[in-house]
Amino acid sequence: MKRTHHCGQLRGSDVGKSVSLIGWIDSIRDHGGILFIDLRDREGLTQVKANPHSDDNAFNDLVRTLKDESVIEIEGLVEAREGDNVNSGLPTGEIEVDCSIVIVHNISDTPPFPIDDEKGDKVNEDLRLKYRYLDLRRGKMRRMLKLRHETSRAIRNFMDDEGFYDVETPTLFKSTPEGAREYLVPSRIQPGHFYALPQSPQQFKQMLMVSGVERYYQIARCYRDEDLRADRQMEFTQLDIELSFIDREDMYALVEGLMKRVWKETLGIDISAPFQRMPYQEAMDKYGVDKPDTRFGLEIEDFSDVFAASSFKVFSGTVKKGGVVKAFKAPTLADVTQGEMKNLEEVAKSLGAKGLAFIKIEGGEWKSPIVKFFSDEEKAALKERLSLEEGDIVFFAASDWEQACAILGRTRLECAELLKKRGKLTIPADQFNFLWVVDFPLMVYEEEHGRYVASHHPFTSPVTEDIQYLDSDPKRVRGQHYDLVLNGVELGGGSIRIHQADLQKKVFEDVLNISADVVESRFGYMLESFKYGAPPHGGIAFGLDRLVMILCGVASIREVIAFPKTQKGQCLMTDSPSRVADKQLKELHIETLDMDEETE
Ligand code: AMO
Ligand code: AMP
Repeated sequence: MKRTHHCGQLRGSDVGKSVSLIGWIDSIRDHGGILFIDLRDREGLTQVKANPHSDDNAFNDLVRTLKDESVIEIEGLVEAREGDNVNSGLPTGEIEVDCSIVIVHNISDTPPFPIDDEKGDKVNEDLRLKYRYLDLRRGKMRRMLKLRHETSRAIRNFMDDEGFYDVETPTLFKSTPEGAREYLVPSRIQPGHFYALPQSPQQFKQMLMVSGVERYYQIARCYRDEDLRADRQMEFTQLDIELSFIDREDMYALVEGLMKRVWKETLGIDISAPFQRMPYQEAMDKYGVDKPDTRFGLEIEDFSDVFAASSFKVFSGTVKKGGVVKAFKAPTLADVTQGEMKNLEEVAKSLGAKGLAFIKIEGGEWKSPIVKFFSDEEKAALKERLSLEEGDIVFFAASDWEQACAILGRTRLECAELLKKRGKLTIPADQFNFLWVVDFPLMVYEEEHGRYVASHHPFTSPVTEDIQYLDSDPKRVRGQHYDLVLNGVELGGGSIRIHQADLQKKVFEDVLNISADVVESRFGYMLESFKYGAPPHGGIAFGLDRLVMILCGVASIREVIAFPKTQKGQCLMTDSPSRVADKQLKELHIETLDMDEETE
């Protein structure tokens, strides 16, 4: 069963050779008794001609049984295609193979959907996931798998060149209180005890620094029991990195080198570095998110000063209560339809907005339900600061700073989509706006629990000159944290860590208000390790799935994961999660409530 060539290999220069090929039947066409078979393997397609044999009925009968997606092996002679028969769209389009022998390895049933790039994209995603092994036969999906492989290879080569060790860390870890919800794994040997699947190798990689590994990386699987979205899966892959004896500048330089290498080796594109840097405050103020898409403008402005004493009470009242009035202009979008407007309002309301005030400038007039409340000075300020012109629309949010940012941040993205739809905004497919977002607050106050929580994770080191405010004004303390954002997607994040036991203990207990015994039981080993010569260290982790998603130019990480889970956390191919036998549960000391009614 040795092929001489793969199906993407033969060229005009091979004419006259005897060859053998093996692969799947992409399609069969019958031209007056002569069958033309497109034979496909991982590398490409070759046209195979099956001429009826005058003296061999077995051959003639056999080829008549062939069906799409069957696996066959053929032997034959490479022939030149003449004139119009040359297919310039196919690398093997100059030739075809006239086959003399056909061996059938497996006849395929009719697949549940066409194995085809165009048609396959329109197939219901659940069906694609149930038959993922067929979906992955499509050219698009094969190219994705290849690009993902090339991405990991570029990463591994780069990390090796830079002196990193690839170290594996456990997936049976322990439950830790901070962060996303965890997956628990019951212990059979220790009744009532549970492992947790790691949300990231964070603590292990810090321990490796204490061990003296100095430079660690791992392409690691992580698990988070979160609500799934287009860019979130319950199990996903991180490129996880940690180094000793570095500061933030070293990290930026390392990561910029890594990204340059990945883009060059996968897409052949030279990206330029250093990347732009933007403080968290500016990102929120101008773009309404901590992961701004800077490929287009529509920047948000603050108008709190203008409306502080406005007779429009919704605005002035908000400012009086310490809130803000923010607005941005969507140029030329005054033609927004009613349906689109309704959708924008719904998006704003889903983020807690009471409404989405707007002004359209149409026929030289300001059209808006609220403009009658505005003074001439207020209007002049809007016109000047936003450079308003005929056909523009302005959206407003009046709320506390965070919510106003969130509302307009989302509205801004929705407006960009509407402009794209109208052909008024085009973003080149090869535009890659890398951005470091820096100077995050070390912690944020959670109204719900009435306490501070780490805005990234509790191991992040405060900016040295801000340590003095840890007790008196925790809000003011910036963390040595950095996020790498690409085209509006948070690609990765990390920080310089705390490496002193007393500072780490203080952050846990005094600032984050985690009780001393919880700190001891969850993080005791870590605090103890810091007493035995912990080096200054820092790291970062990237969402590998998100990285590959952007490299592939697709909108969901499910497209770049071989076997992803659905929104409901199911693997439709293997039908998991599934029930288990009572005996298994007993061994694990677990009793379940009868869920029949709920699950069926
Ligand atoms: P963080 O929680 O920011 O940091 O995660 C790092 C990156 O992982 C990706 N990511 C995800 N991708 C897909 N599905 C998910 N559910 C998901 N959650 C996160 C994102 C994100 O930027 N230990 C720290 C890193 C460090 O400090 O070194 C950490 O895990 O791209
Ligand atoms: P009202 O006076 O409540 O009818 O609001 C007048 C207009 O302002 C309506 O178009 C509302 O959608 C909008 N609006 C109300 N509250 C806010 C707010 N906090 N931010 C932005 N627009 C708002």
